[in-house]
Amino acid sequence: MRRCEGKGSLYLDLHRVLRSDEQTPAETFAEDVQKKYRTLSIHDAGPWLKELRMVKSPAEIEEIRRAIAITDEAIRRMWSHARPGIMEYELEAHYDFTLKSHGVRELPYLPIIASGINATVLHYEANNQRAEDGDLVLLDLGAASNYYAADISRTFPVNGRFTERQKEIYQLVLEAEIKTIEAVKLGVTLQHLNDVTKQVFTDGLLRLGLIQESSELSKYYYHSVSHHLGLDTHDIPDYSAAMQPGMVITIEPGLYIEEEAIGIRIEDDVLVTAEGCEVLSSQIPKETEEVELLIGKKE
Ligand code: GLY
Ligand code: MN
Ligand code: MN
Repeated sequence: MRRCEGKGSLYLDLHRVLRSDEQTPAETFAEDVQKKYRTLSIHDAGPWLKELRMVKSPAEIEEIRRAIAITDEAIRRMWSHARPGIMEYELEAHYDFTLKSHGVRELPYLPIIASGINATVLHYEANNQRAEDGDLVLLDLGAASNYYAADISRTFPVNGRFTERQKEIYQLVLEAEIKTIEAVKLGVTLQHLNDVTKQVFTDGLLRLGLIQESSELSKYYYHSVSHHLGLDTHDIPDYSAAMQPGMVITIEPGLYIEEEAIGIRIEDDVLVTAEGCEVLSSQIPKETEEVELLIGKKE
């Protein structure tokens, strides 16, 4: 077969969402194609695709809804099998079971199943420790549907009962989540949403005596509250884009108190609408009483 040696142009999405040493599939493809067709010029279509990808079509939103529905089922299965002494990877096995039962065999990202102090490690993925009686377990995970990701975090007591202290911190994270979701409106930026979260956390941590001044907040809250969600879990890294109808973002405040082995994050996926927003993952319980009722209760 003769090789095509003529000049030509190939446009690929070469935009890197995450900085990492690993080659992206698009980069690998570009390299392979370039080796075969040396005169071909390859261009990055990322900037145009970014605009297109930022606002989701109804069909894309349906895919995200399906990914969330599977994630919901998986979380409920993990909760129903939870008990003190369970290994994090046993919980992961229940997660995998649900996803594979729905034909989801490729994960958008490795699930985080972090018990006790592990939950204070931001990207904990070892999932190889035992969840002891009294531990909270932080889940951050998501299924995919036709490559569209869900991205959900829930935190639960492995023995089915939050302690008063755990509840106190949990309620503050939940308050931050609810107030930040209320702030999702046309025209606001992710930066603004993060400011809302930071204000709730600062007030709450001062009230609880965990910090003495606002500059200390970063000791307990050290990531941002939102990112776009879609084909990539961290879909479009544009923190200054104003919210438009059809954008799908996460809201994910968390507090990490290492000295008390408490790490709590609550994360929902939110669709921006003309009126404000719709929480696409609202069916996944997050009030403490609702969560407690589902732990260790086999269907
Ligand atoms: N699961 C990654 C994140 O929440 O951003
Ligand atoms: Mn997440
Ligand atoms: Mn997220």
